Amino acid sequence: MADTEAIWLVDTHTHLNDAQFAGEGEVAAAIARAQAAGVRQLINMGDTLASSQLAVDIAQQHAGVYAGVGIHPEEARPLTAADDAQLAAWAALPEVVCIGEIGLDYHWVKDEPQRALQREIFVHQLDLARQLHLPVCIHDREAHGDTLAILQKEGQGVRGVLHCYSGSWETAQAFLKLGFYLGVDGPLTFKKAAKLPDIVRQMPLERLLVETDAPYMAPVPQRGQRNEPAFVRYVAAKVAELRGISLAEVAQRTTQNAHDLYSI
Ligand code: NI
Repeated sequence: MADTEAIWLVDTHTHLNDAQFAGEGEVAAAIARAQAAGVRQLINMGDTLASSQLAVDIAQQHAGVYAGVGIHPEEARPLTAADDAQLAAWAALPEVVCIGEIGLDYHWVKDEPQRALQREIFVHQLDLARQLHLPVCIHDREAHGDTLAILQKEGQGVRGVLHCYSGSWETAQAFLKLGFYLGVDGPLTFKKAAKLPDIVRQMPLERLLVETDAPYMAPVPQRGQRNEPAFVRYVAAKVAELRGISLAEVAQRTTQNAHDLYSI
């Protein structure tokens, strides 16, 4: 990929703290490849306390790398006072820029009591984010109605992003009205991207974030391979194509958005 000098992209949602990057030197190599591709900053998200700790460690070891800390809906369990204290301690660190990823996942979790626990933990972490003055990174898979209802009722004073947005344009408009950003990644480049390209064409560019969610969902032309932060450039290029603007303009705008939301 040529012409990287003028480009400054942020991979706003990635997981170099995933086991797929656990090999010796793999994290540093992925960060170096990202920087070579113009991806100058990235945010690793936590799924559990252990992966949040790893995200914090990686952020402390690498310039331009930040961390989200939180409990993913698939990992939902009742949070103790000690868990809250740990999240608050991380939140005080300059490298920690959000509570995430948090939210609801009804695709993998069909059991109603477990879904109720997800909602409880989601609301609890929204509350924590408000108290800690941090934005949130939200995972919403096949739970758009409940996610929206919770944000409308419990999201006052909390800023954030619907990461890997997969809902309708109508729901997108409702999230945008609440002041939330929408994050897009690999699926935008897939042939069966469904409604997402139309949403990206119509939505205000000042509310769009680009991300990879690596190591999963690598964008075309890397689809099927292990995803990594450098590939956020393919997502940004797809946004540029859909909007009929330059990659440089997408980079400038989405990077400004990332800086505004995450104060990085
Ligand atoms: Ni993720």
